Amino acid sequence: MKVYKILYIAMVLLKEKLKEIQTENIKKEVKVGIIGAGYVGLVTAAGLAYKGYNVLLVEKDKEKLKKIKQGICPFYEPDLQRYLLEGIESGRLSFRENISELVSECRYIFVCVGTPIKDDSTYDMYYLDIVAKEIANNLKNDFRIIIIRSTVPPGTGRWFKKAILRYRRGVKANFEVVSMPEFLREGNAIYDFFNPSRIIIGSDNYDIGKEVSELYSDFGAPILIVSLEEAEIIKLASNAFLAMRISFINSIANLAEVFDSNIENIRLGIGLDPRIGTEFLKAGIGFGGSCLPKDLSALISVFNNYQINPILFEAVKIINDERIDIFINKIKKALWNIKNKILTVWGVSFKANTDDIRESPALKIIPKLVQEGAFINVYDPKGLHNFQSYIQKNYPHFSNSIKLIENIYESTVNSSAILITNDWDEYKRVNYYNIYELMETPIIIDGRNIVNPLEMREIGFEYYSIGNNIK
Ligand SMILES: NC(=O)c1ccc[n+]([C@@H]2O[C@H](COP(=O)([O-])OP(=O)(O)OC[C@H]3O[C@@H](n4cnc5c(N)ncnc54)[C@H](O)[C@@H]3O)[C@@H](O)[C@H]2O)c1
Repeated sequence: MKVYKILYIAMVLLKEKLKEIQTENIKKEVKVGIIGAGYVGLVTAAGLAYKGYNVLLVEKDKEKLKKIKQGICPFYEPDLQRYLLEGIESGRLSFRENISELVSECRYIFVCVGTPIKDDSTYDMYYLDIVAKEIANNLKNDFRIIIIRSTVPPGTGRWFKKAILRYRRGVKANFEVVSMPEFLREGNAIYDFFNPSRIIIGSDNYDIGKEVSELYSDFGAPILIVSLEEAEIIKLASNAFLAMRISFINSIANLAEVFDSNIENIRLGIGLDPRIGTEFLKAGIGFGGSCLPKDLSALISVFNNYQINPILFEAVKIINDERIDIFINKIKKALWNIKNKILTVWGVSFKANTDDIRESPALKIIPKLVQEGAFINVYDPKGLHNFQSYIQKNYPHFSNSIKLIENIYESTVNSSAILITNDWDEYKRVNYYNIYELMETPIIIDGRNIVNPLEMREIGFEYYSIGNNIK
């Protein structure tokens, strides 16, 4: 009896192993093309290669591509470099010079190019149009599935299809377009790639949607196959909802300050309702980054375009824009005078764990303080190099008033106040006793509510935060 049991278990294990080997071999044969090696494209490329797929990557920026080919990640994203190197060394991640090679080799082509917004707050379709043209000019008889991962307004997938057909000028083409919005968070992109909350696949053709979903069948995430437009709306609505939660709590923080209340208590009290929860309810100086502000503005344009009232989203944006002045006023109120004072800004990336400074609140706060005569010492664990380029390009005349400092302690020497503008863990770990000694006047104005008020006050700091007037 015992022998039979052991034999049975061995057979089950062998079957499982064979299935695994078979799946691995199938994956190796599946060629996936990726267009664009930004945050989305590079993470997808390295991640799919790690999962066993044969990934081919095209990136038009030659400098960026050169670094990537050497296994160097062109931006800071935790763990990405490790996966990138592993992909290259395993031979599962390789590079192609142009899109035509991807089209001839890969059944699946992921489009991960940028979709910035223009001055009129509508999405710029320029990069997608170029990709559509290149694909159209190189489609042959083999069937191709083009998967749009860029964030786009509803209707884009259908336009993309139409654009390809137009560029073909009547010559038959064998392809399908799928919308597959990306939900990764910068700073957590690798974790999010391997642990997605959901896989949304938009397609006119259910069988194609199902086929694409097979690529992600072992990710353990719920997979939802919907229409092209539904997928596009899901992405924009998700970002708008997150933005709305942040503006919501920031509005409540304004009220909390009037009554000398602590927004953290209020947040907890609201969030204990399981229908609400505490995620994305952190009061601060507002949201930034390459996604929320852009996608919110573009959603407002989409609503206007279809004569739908965008008032809810306009309010979210107005409340977010106001955060900058509210913070500046808090600084001025705390300091009495800021002219000729050294102020230390901790944080130029839009949040912790990234060097991405796009739409970071600090980009608006620092120039306003300089305009009022302050000298700024800037520290950020990873964002300084991008910030330096930003200042050189946009505010070259401010360069004498802004000092970039690579050591957090040094950044506080003779400073009149520390202004915390993003949420790196490092700010919680520094020795505030030492910092207290280095500063001219020991004041902290915490725009992210990340350090412990009681500890700061015990050391002797004057501490101000958001949604909390308690002395
Ligand atoms: N960054 C995020 O956290 C995030 C999250 C979800 C969705 N998105 C969306 O994904 C898209 C890409 O975002 P990103 O942050 O990765 O952008 P990015 O600007 O960092 O990267 C885009 C890359 O595409 C390359 N590219 C453009 N045209 C190309 C072409 N014709 N051939 C080859 N390469 C080309 C660019 O050189 C660039 O390296 C955007 O629509 C964005 O809104 C971004």
